Amino acid sequence: MKKVVLSLGGSVLIPALEEHRIARYATVLQEIAGYARLYVVVGGGGEARRYITAAREIGCSEALADEIGVAVTRLNAMLLAGALGEAACPLIAESQAEAMAYGAGEKIVLMGGVTPAQTTDAVAAVLAERCGADLMVNLTSVDGIYTADPRTDPAAERLDQLTPERLLEIVGTGSLRAGANTVIDMIAAKVIQRSGIPLLVIDGRDPGNLSRALLSGTYSGSLVTRGGGRPLPVTGS
Ligand code: UTP
Repeated sequence: MKKVVLSLGGSVLIPALEEHRIARYATVLQEIAGYARLYVVVGGGGEARRYITAAREIGCSEALADEIGVAVTRLNAMLLAGALGEAACPLIAESQAEAMAYGAGEKIVLMGGVTPAQTTDAVAAVLAERCGADLMVNLTSVDGIYTADPRTDPAAERLDQLTPERLLEIVGTGSLRAGANTVIDMIAAKVIQRSGIPLLVIDGRDPGNLSRALLSGTYSGSLVTRGGGRPLPVTGS
């Protein structure tokens, strides 16, 4: 089976505790797990941002705000583990080494953040490199990588396919403040470039986008690859 690492944005899985997509994602992940080995890195979402804002308001350092953010990513991963039941490893990996150890079993491996000054996209990129993934997928709240920020620049265009070098150019020097929000952060982009692992960026607000991409190879988004090989669908050997 092919190995796939998902960066499941918290803003997609749990925009807030009152409006989450945990049950729908659990169904989709269980289906995909019949065809591919899954490692899922869960982000912090709206609740992490609320905690980080509160931490700043009381004068915490950015590093402590990051650690609080990491704790929320792990709570989110625990909720997803609860929804996945027997299909998921019951322990949330707290390091890359733990994720590797849990990956030796058959179950879906779940993980949150690891260490300050990065995002779960970087965690997922490192895990993809570590486990020799065939593909990394970033599930986020935009439908791909644009030449500029589409919210502020009307001339921004979506790139259907781009090289890791072009991705690095676009990411540039993004903000690294706790809770910072870009499609993918610089550390993740650099790891993607050095590993050469294909990266698919799709809109995760509809969980069906993930199963269509992985199981049928049909998607609307951006594929970061040097070319050569067909990373999708992931159902082949
Ligand atoms: P993320 O920014 O990865 O969560 O982590 P997210 O909600 O998935 O982001 P999007 O919006 O959906 O893309 C939340 C916060 O937790 C801290 C950072 O402060 C980050 O902004 N964090 C996370 C770390 O410091 N280290 C990590 O390894 C992961």
